[in-house]
Amino acid sequence: MIKATTDIFGIIGDPIEHSLSPILQNWFFQQFALDAVYVAFHVYPKELKNAISGLHSMNIKGLNVTLPHKAGVVDYCGIRSREVELLNVANTLSLSETELSAHVTDSHGFKKSLGQKRVEFKNSDICMLGAGGAARSILFALAELEPAGVFVYNRTREKAEQLVQEGRKSFGLLNARSISKSELNDVIHSCRIVINTTSVGMYPNIHDCPVDENAPFSDGHFVYDLIYNPLTTRFLRIAKEKGAAVQNGLDMLIFQGLESLRIWKQADLQLNSKHLTECRSLLETQLYE
Ligand code: ATR
Repeated sequence: MIKATTDIFGIIGDPIEHSLSPILQNWFFQQFALDAVYVAFHVYPKELKNAISGLHSMNIKGLNVTLPHKAGVVDYCGIRSREVELLNVANTLSLSETELSAHVTDSHGFKKSLGQKRVEFKNSDICMLGAGGAARSILFALAELEPAGVFVYNRTREKAEQLVQEGRKSFGLLNARSISKSELNDVIHSCRIVINTTSVGMYPNIHDCPVDENAPFSDGHFVYDLIYNPLTTRFLRIAKEKGAAVQNGLDMLIFQGLESLRIWKQADLQLNSKHLTECRSLLETQLYE
């Protein structure tokens, strides 16, 4: 029951009405028996400063941040994690008596979502599609997983090249390079792991695909799409039909949310496999197959 003493958490973004975070976080609160509630705030860009400055006075304990505010909030935060300093974006704000601290939980969520598969990344060649905000977080995570090489393909080649340079300089990922469209199928063929970080194939554009229909996937591939709506994108369907192991972005969403909660509560909160399955099912009811 929501009482006068219930802690308030939330998410800010524009738009915000499709966010799954309220469902996810309120489910966590129930699972971990926390006296807390989580709500979505529709904050327009011109209102960001006012929204942030009101957090303390409204006694809001923590906030998630989504588009278009992920970069904008960083300036308002006195404490920034190393990852926030590097990526210059934040998706989690934590409030103490005096300070606002900024964190980013995407790459942590990605690594946790890999489970046992994580070990396969070490010394493997990886093909990453995309060079936007999501790609940066994933490249940061990949740097820690010590792959043999990372090949970045993006529609706009210059952005792929810029990201690769950033990976080298800031993340210490020396063995990354950008590739052209004409190299893509050969690279997919030779990489064991292919990750889509683009928005291509996301609802409502469910017939779009970031690779050719005849992309050379095989049963030796692990193919990951960060998209979770639909649960099975055309990209994952093509890979699956050719025998690849596939994963969608749902577990990453769950684990990045759990990491936000861990930061807010300063507690080592864990989901066992039964709870993870329950959580997936809950979110899946909101999404397209
Ligand atoms: P996000 O924060 O979700 O990563 P973003 O920073 O806007 O969003 O990045 C979107 C990514 O999807 C980019 O890599 C973008 O490619 P461009 O850099 O060429 O724009 C890619 N993307 C989006 N729509 C695309 C499309 N129709 N075809 C190919 N790539 C697309």
